[in-house]
Amino acid sequence: MAEFFLPANSKVGRGRTFKAAADAKHVRVFRIYRFDPDTAGNPRIDSYEIDMDSCGPMVLDALIKIKNEIDSTLTFRRSCREGICGSCAMNIDGRNGLACLNACADVSGDIRIYPLPHLPVIKDLVPDLTDFYAQYASIKPWLQTRTPAPPDGERLQSKGDQERVDRPSACILCACCSTSCPSYWWNSDRYLGPAALLAAYRWIVDSRDEATGERLDQLEDPFRLYRCHTIMNCTEACPKDLNPAKAIGEIKQMMAHRRQ
Ligand code: SF4
Ligand code: SF4
Ligand code: FES
Repeated sequence: MAEFFLPANSKVGRGRTFKAAADAKHVRVFRIYRFDPDTAGNPRIDSYEIDMDSCGPMVLDALIKIKNEIDSTLTFRRSCREGICGSCAMNIDGRNGLACLNACADVSGDIRIYPLPHLPVIKDLVPDLTDFYAQYASIKPWLQTRTPAPPDGERLQSKGDQERVDRPSACILCACCSTSCPSYWWNSDRYLGPAALLAAYRWIVDSRDEATGERLDQLEDPFRLYRCHTIMNCTEACPKDLNPAKAIGEIKQMMAHRRQ
């Protein structure tokens, strides 16, 4: 019988505990994954007791409070604080999401925070998104045309054509979907994943784009597209209510139709 063991250096140990002040009344505990590439130690879970009477409501508020007031070594990405930049994506209470859009009150018990799953970790809550961005770049996420633009330079669309690209264009490349996809976990070197495929779909259905055939050719591969098995985790995980699984299904249909 096959036996599988985690490498010893991947085991997560217990870390430090930072206590709240003795007179704090509404204390919540944040258990946060820590990994420092500059030390030889294993990853660990540090616990931070936060007085919620002096903390904003969202998980990102708590992380910023910890960094500013308790432990400046805690590392995470954030920018816009309103669900626009996608940089604060992480795993909160077992689900991928944006720290700035997840309220602490929506989590019961201790609040467990990990980096997005199945990616190499650079430090603490910061995953390495190099391959994820390379996959996005590989679908050529820009308008490709061959015919000259009209004299005024505007390539117009009907309202209906614009509505086809409207929702997929709202993707903020947070990677919550791809890192919740089991197919991506096992084949992220060859399967493009739902985020890149949603972006591909966005350009395939754009009425102004003139490279539809080449875009479909590029996806005609046993791994790049067809590793999607319609498990739907991606759609469940998307904080912008997008539907990458449906987009992938439509690309597969287009592939089938053009073979007929
Ligand atoms: S529907 Fe496809 S892309 Fe989405 S989680 Fe499932 S396998 Fe992954
Ligand atoms: S489809 Fe949704 S979850 Fe995936 S990268 Fe875009 S915004 Fe994030
Ligand atoms: S900080 Fe920009 S999406 Fe959360």
